[in-house]
Amino acid sequence: MGRQIAIDGPAGAGKSTIARSLAKKLGYIYVDTGAMYRAMALFLLRKGIRADETEKIEAACGEADITIAFDDGEQQVLLNGEHVNGLIRTEEVGNMASASSVNPKVREKMTELQRRLGQEADVVMDGRDIGTFVLPGADVKIYLTASIEERARRRALEYERKGQPADIEQIAKDIAERDYRDMHREHAPLRQAEDAVLVDTSDMTIEEVEARLLSLCGEKSGGKGDFFA
Ligand code: DC
Repeated sequence: MGRQIAIDGPAGAGKSTIARSLAKKLGYIYVDTGAMYRAMALFLLRKGIRADETEKIEAACGEADITIAFDDGEQQVLLNGEHVNGLIRTEEVGNMASASSVNPKVREKMTELQRRLGQEADVVMDGRDIGTFVLPGADVKIYLTASIEERARRRALEYERKGQPADIEQIAKDIAERDYRDMHREHAPLRQAEDAVLVDTSDMTIEEVEARLLSLCGEKSGGKGDFFA
């Protein structure tokens, strides 16, 4: 069993930035579970399947083969053998991922893959249900959050950097909708695990968040430093 660090929280809280850099520092593998739900969402969008078409979504679970490869430490998502990393970072795919991930069949498919990854290697895994459901025995659990305004601002900046148009008010509205859906779905909703540490990043820089998480990992290893390879 590998060592496991679980980072959960709402959209735009900074999970992927922090999880990636933490994994690098510790020499662990970074597993981005949102990207897997996004790949499934891309498959559904391409097929013209809507989020309320439960039967079609469940049938699609048998047709969409989602696998993960690591290229230079960077997670590559393969959808039926196609590299889709460059196609899944849009608001449309993100919203569809949130809507389709309420389906238990979709969740079961992804959870299986995530648990396997968590057993094979030392991982920093981020998502919505990692500490509560996917890896309940994780060594360190973090619940990362920030205000909606700050999260919308960060997302807009991300899109602008990529040269994509960003309407900050629309993004804030989408984020609020996704928060609600992710927190209120029946299966493995987003919530803070009882043994997770809450970190509000609204007024923190990336460096500050990173330092805080590294110190939490250090505390967990009882100062022996055994989190560090
Ligand atoms: O983290 P993200 O924005 O890439 O995730 C996209 C959606 O996927 C998110 O709104 C809900 C879903 N998701 C999930 O249900 N469980 C996870 N562990 C990760 C993502």
